[in-house]
Amino acid sequence: MNPKIEAARAALGEVRSGMKLGLGTGTTAAEFVRLLGEALRARTLTAIRCTCTSEQTAAQARHEAIPVFPLHELAPLDLVVDGADEIDDGLRMIKGRGGALLREKIVEIVEQQAARFIVIADESKVVSRLGVSRLPVEVTPFALEVLQRRFEAMGIDPLLRMREGTPLVTDEGNRIFDVLVPATEDIATLVDTIRDHAGVVETGFFPHEATEAVIASAGGIRWMRR
Ligand code: 5RP
Repeated sequence: MNPKIEAARAALGEVRSGMKLGLGTGTTAAEFVRLLGEALRARTLTAIRCTCTSEQTAAQARHEAIPVFPLHELAPLDLVVDGADEIDDGLRMIKGRGGALLREKIVEIVEQQAARFIVIADESKVVSRLGVSRLPVEVTPFALEVLQRRFEAMGIDPLLRMREGTPLVTDEGNRIFDVLVPATEDIATLVDTIRDHAGVVETGFFPHEATEAVIASAGGIRWMRR
């Protein structure tokens, strides 16, 4: 049993023909996109329209012959399905290890763009304290060096995200620092301080976006709801 596939399958069970969907980014979201493509080809689902949280997902969706539209043509969405890097028991999350945090945040603001946002994940993503891994912070290239200096002074050890030997460029043309979340610090307060800096575009802290999560493990599926 592959927990990522089982979580994706459970979320697919919530999709109805005619829905407008938001498709997430990452290996778990990719399983959902694959299963959705299968369902469309088998015609167990019809008239589905989707928008994507990254160019990578859009390429996969097109490969699966899933109809893809710009966000503004579909919003408000009926449902968004995406993965997460860390989830706490209040359904707060850290996302962005796949580098798509900004478009994910835009698509997944529930009050603004979507009626429901289901997170799909395996049990390893559930944590008692957010910040086990680093928090992604997307910044404009112009502010890169000065923000690096500021974050160093804050003691949060900014690591510039690299890909194939050069700084990663996001779909929106920005860069990403992965910063520490000190155990002594409340993540919401830390994020407020980080966001106060001009040049910070977004962080991977998603405090209230998810309406529910489906968590898969060898023992089966469990739902977390707000
Ligand atoms: C991408 C994300 C992903 O949803 C997150 O990194 C989870 O990925 P995976 O399912 O591969 O573990 O936020 O920016």
